[in-house]
Order: sequence, then C-alpha cells, then structure tokens
Amino acid sequence: MSVAVVGGGIIGLSIASRLVDNGADVTIFDDGEYGAWNVAAGMLAPGGEAAFETPALVRLMSSSAERWSSFAASLGVDVGYDETGTLSLAVTADDVAVAAREWPSPALRPSRLRELEPALSPRVRAGVHRPADCQVDPRRVVAALRERLGDRIVTKRLSTLDEAGAPTVVVAAGCGTAALTGLPIRPVKGQVLRLRGEPGLLRHVIEATVDGRSVYVVPRADGEIVVGATQEERSDWTVTAGGVHDLLRAAIELVPDLAECTLAETLVGHRPGTPDNAPLLGVLREGVVVAAGHFRNGVLLAPVTADLIADLVLTGTTDPMLDDFAPGRFA
Ligand code: GLY
Repeated sequence: MSVAVVGGGIIGLSIASRLVDNGADVTIFDDGEYGAWNVAAGMLAPGGEAAFETPALVRLMSSSAERWSSFAASLGVDVGYDETGTLSLAVTADDVAVAAREWPSPALRPSRLRELEPALSPRVRAGVHRPADCQVDPRRVVAALRERLGDRIVTKRLSTLDEAGAPTVVVAAGCGTAALTGLPIRPVKGQVLRLRGEPGLLRHVIEATVDGRSVYVVPRADGEIVVGATQEERSDWTVTAGGVHDLLRAAIELVPDLAECTLAETLVGHRPGTPDNAPLLGVLREGVVVAAGHFRNGVLLAPVTADLIADLVLTGTTDPMLDDFAPGRFA
C-alpha cells in the first residue's frame, strides 16, 4: 500500500513509522521547519494537564500514556523516557485553592514535598505527587524517528495535497494543516526556556500554580531544564521580555537554585489549536486522513495517534476511541 504522510513532526513521523512497521510504502513530506515538538517539554501528563478536557480526550490521553513505555522502547535508543513522576504544586493560599481542584489526592505537606524534591522553596505551600505522569525528550524522539525513516523523508513544502501523488494521504502538518485542508486549526503561541544546570538539581517534573500563573519545570538527566510556557492567542515568533520574566520569576520562586543556571535557549512554538482544542483524527474525505490539532498534547498523544491512524489507513476501521474527534465535526 502506498501512503504519503504530510508533516515530519512527532505526529507524522510516529504514524509513518507504524505504517512502515506494517509493510506500507510510505513517503513523508516535511517542510524542513521545526514543529511544536522542538520546543515541547515532553511531559506525559494525562493527569497534570487534564483541566478542561472532555472524558473522551482524557481517555485518549490515558491510553496514549499507557503506550509510551513500549513506544519509547521500540525506538531502540535512549529518548529520555523517565518515570520518576510529577509534582503538582501551589505556592500561595489562592494558588492552592485553584490548583487543588485538579489534584487526585489530598495535598502533601511542604516538609514531605521537600523530602521528595529537596531543592523546592520553603514558600511552596502544598502539592501532590503524580507517580504515573512521566516525561520524554521530544527532540530525541524526533531524531530517532528520522533515523528510522531515513530517505523516506522528502524535504518539500506542499501547496496542495495532490502534489503528494499518493492514493492515500495522511495530513499531520500541525498548524500547516489548515492551509492544506481548510480545517480550523489556529496557532497558539508558547514561549519556552531551556536552562542548563547541574544534573540532579531536580528529580521530578514540576507543574505548578505560582501567584495565579501556570508554569512547568522539566529536568532532564543531562542537566537541561525546560521551563514553560506562555499560552498566547498569537502567531508571531517574538520572544518577549515579559514572557521570559514571567517564566523565570515563577520557576525561581519554586526552585531558588534555578537562578544559578545558564539560560541556554529562549524559544517560541505554536500549538495547533482547534475550536474545542481537541485533535482532529480520522477520514476527511476519500483518500485523505487527518491527524492534527493536538494543541498542548502532541507528544503525549503520539503513540495512540500512530496506532489508531495507521490501523485506519491499513484496514479502513475507525477505533471507537476516535469517534469524538472526527475532522469534519466543525463543518
Ligand atoms: N504541553 C505543554 C504546553 O503546551 O505548553
């Protein structure tokens, strides 16, 4: 079976890899630009990021989280998959009142939180441990997928899907999906920082509410620490003084030692958002399948998207888990 995948980000490459594993003849068209995966922190947090999501989306996220361990192992190289877990934290009393609504268990005392994560500030008032929320390094995942797929990847920006020249086209082009299909996907800007510090400064992924702002701090084994992210209804690429200030202030409030780290990268990415901020997954029309609009959850949702979209392409069967995510639902 001959399939073109349009989009060489984490979603397109994961689907292509699954199709190749099942014997399809796959060409991936990649526009050569970095997608949202390049700035993504790689939190695999169906719990920690679940606010406002529907039960169907939470089910999809949980199913994907369960698939991550074997998906990471299937890549055959270290992609930074880490199961140490996540701390959800709150600093002020108001932060606790807001954040605790999403916590799955009673709040831990600050002393217990600092046993788990000694670098935490004494100002952290409460939090919970989410042992099942893991992380992965999206840059390593994409590098591993690119290595596997090799010269099946063609660097070319398509203007129309006809240019793909295949009987079946999977559109997984993130924000670029809108121009190719007319589907309502908008860019939602996120500013993200990468710090560099001593390996071991932090053990856990931290997601927190600090003076009413959401922030996450994701430590990698090699000393990289990702701090994110703003969420702005904008499409520009400007790193703003205010964005960097807000992220650093919140992160240093949580972990004062972060002030000693090197500020290694300041980045902007665009999450592909949809009108309901849930993904578009399924058949758009004869010969065109869409897998896009993953908003804040592209890395988490990559394995389940790959499995279910590859099955759909190869067998014509739509898994019931996709029923709520039909690409035509806004028509
Ligand atoms: N998933 C984290 C973010 O979109 O900022």
